[in-house]
Amino acid sequence: VTQTDSHTPAEVLQHYDVFDPEQNRAKWELFGYAREQCPVVRTDGNGGFWLVTRYEDIRRILEDWKTFSSLESPVMPTGMKMCPIDADPPEQTALRQVLNPLFSRGALTEYVPTMRSAACTQIDSWIDRGTMEVLTEFSGPYVGKLLTAVLFPDLREDEIEQAHRIALGVAEEGSPEVFGELMQMCVTYLARAREKGIADSADDGVVKRLLTAEIAGRPITEEEQLGALAILFLGGLSTTRDAIGNIIYRTATNPGVEDRLRDRSWVKRDLDEFLRLDPPVACMARVATRDVELNGVLIRKGERLQLRYDSANRDENQFPGADHLVFGAPRTGHVAFGIGVHRCIGSNMARLQIEVAFEELLGRIKNLRLVDPAACVWVPGQTTALGAVNVAFDKVA
Ligand code: HEM
Repeated sequence: VTQTDSHTPAEVLQHYDVFDPEQNRAKWELFGYAREQCPVVRTDGNGGFWLVTRYEDIRRILEDWKTFSSLESPVMPTGMKMCPIDADPPEQTALRQVLNPLFSRGALTEYVPTMRSAACTQIDSWIDRGTMEVLTEFSGPYVGKLLTAVLFPDLREDEIEQAHRIALGVAEEGSPEVFGELMQMCVTYLARAREKGIADSADDGVVKRLLTAEIAGRPITEEEQLGALAILFLGGLSTTRDAIGNIIYRTATNPGVEDRLRDRSWVKRDLDEFLRLDPPVACMARVATRDVELNGVLIRKGERLQLRYDSANRDENQFPGADHLVFGAPRTGHVAFGIGVHRCIGSNMARLQIEVAFEELLGRIKNLRLVDPAACVWVPGQTTALGAVNVAFDKVA
């Protein structure tokens, strides 16, 4: 491993910490080594985890929620319960059944005009400049506006402004203060919906369903309502924002990719390959509910596992040429959206948003190129995301 002469990859992995910038820079090398030499390896970083790096092991874990529970699924504790992401069946599946229909592609098409207008507003704001920063000037505000429209459709004008500000704050800094503001917004919104009797209104939506549906034969508790609203907002925001940033980065740095994206079938044909290579959610955690053997290693009941989705997606045994974009080859089963009962509820929404974003973008600009390549760096953390993506472009005549 290049980042340190004095430590072998095996030694570095023993202290792997998701927030360590140096280790993060070397993560592809570290996980590549782990996949070959020690696919399930213990780290004392972030409170102690078994790092799971191979595709087949991660798939096995995701398909066995009884042994590998999601009760502690965020790698870093958030301090609040957020069903469905940190719950197990039957509650988790029951809540998913309540919410899933709202996130089908069909249900989401009514938001396409909102998406287009949000994309256009952003593009108008910088198109004459010839440059832009993708995350703060395009994908962040664009994704924030859609999520606000889907989750909080009844906000007043002034509140919408505030919601967009919170959305941007959460996506950009994610500080405890802005997280607190988000929670407060959710609490207020739910309380107002209860008072207004939204339960009796004809409009279907996330909040109405959370207030009226039953899971496992009982009403959804207020804590669960709040947690679900919060995770839908948090889960949908920086993920899709970063996905768009990553795709623009790859487009600006790989000749020929922009042309592929101009063919409208790219979403069906190529989008998964981008998400495989740079999965915005780099890892999630599970906790063992019993002693269990995994690839020759004994995991004890109560021990936590850090599932490296980024590493699984670069497993050569599953994806030949895994470190590069390979278009046109059959590549199924990437784990960018997870697998099994917790598979992302927002995958249709993310796909549709990405599709519309690129339609609007490439309708108006061309020849995307990085402005300051050296400043374009991957940030440490539980994501595969760039800190900033500054691009220059020409206008489409
Ligand atoms: C490209 C964009 C996205 C990526 C890469 C992504 C990734 C993921 C992944 C990997 C999981 C599984 C977590 C696990 O295994 O524990 C997940 C779950 C989830 N995602 Fe997404 N997501 C994206 C967009 C969205 C959007 C737009 C929403 C909001 C509507 C959303 C909301 C959620 C929720 C609520 C869960 C928890 C589902 C459950 O536990 O049953 N995600 N996502």
